[in-house]
Amino acid sequence: MQIRKVIIPVGGLGTRFLPATKAQPKEMLTIVDKPVIQYLVEEAVDSGIKEVIFVTGKGKRAIEDHFDHAGELEAHLEKQGKKEMAKKVRAISSLAYCAFVRQKGPLGDGDALLQARHLIGNEPVAVLYGDDVVYSKGQPALRQLINVFLKYKRPVFALERVPKSVVHRYGVISGKKVAPRTWLVDKLVEKPTPKEAPSNIAIIGKYILTADIFDELAKVKAKKGRELHLTDAFERVLAKKMPIYGYEIEGTRYDCGDKLGFLRAIVDFGLRHEEVKKGLKAHLKKVR
Ligand code: G1P
Repeated sequence: MQIRKVIIPVGGLGTRFLPATKAQPKEMLTIVDKPVIQYLVEEAVDSGIKEVIFVTGKGKRAIEDHFDHAGELEAHLEKQGKKEMAKKVRAISSLAYCAFVRQKGPLGDGDALLQARHLIGNEPVAVLYGDDVVYSKGQPALRQLINVFLKYKRPVFALERVPKSVVHRYGVISGKKVAPRTWLVDKLVEKPTPKEAPSNIAIIGKYILTADIFDELAKVKAKKGRELHLTDAFERVLAKKMPIYGYEIEGTRYDCGDKLGFLRAIVDFGLRHEEVKKGLKAHLKKVR
């Protein structure tokens, strides 16, 4: 049971980054010199996945262009003798096999995932949300989840311990620890108050999903007229006592859906970036 495909929902409006996202997708905002979306595709590829399904929406064409050939630009760079940069730009278009499906409106992350189901059938599939970028010295975050999936053959989501004061931004779980960092989940509360939260272990936007999650999503969709969330399906699967696992990711996570989280990512990735790290370090010392 291999994981061959990843779904990346990119249909969201990015209202938290306005006005920056008025005319460009939030997934194209850059951390140093690469758009966030490229970090995610590279994470999938480095985890052994070659097929990427983007669920896009209005105003997201720049993402398609980013993963396409840019013939004129590449030729121009070659002509100027910038061979390394031409190579870098060209490599993006052969990183992965990309497919694009369209979500008809901002109808929720669950709805986005259902738009891709005809491309995956009953295979297990990885899902990456645009907001969560993880820097890991060891295996990429998604690979860590795949390892857990291969052991249990059940859905897995990425977990991180967060301060109680921010649990209201996440799905929060409780469960039984069954292996290092690995939880068998028994309860999931979506966006709880600190009082309602069953723990401070939050779900971050990386998942392995199995066909039964999609079946439940489809059932909820038929009933509801409102936004459809992946959490709805997890709750139904848990109610049926079907196992779901969570894994506390090794690495540093940046919440790129939040202004401060995004700035942290830019600073940390900048401090690791050969070209700018020295200058950035000097600047940070000055502004302290
Ligand atoms: C979604 C999920 C939530 C999860 C979060 C991670 O929420 O519903 O359970 O903790 O992603 O980023 P959203 O951030 O889309 O509101």
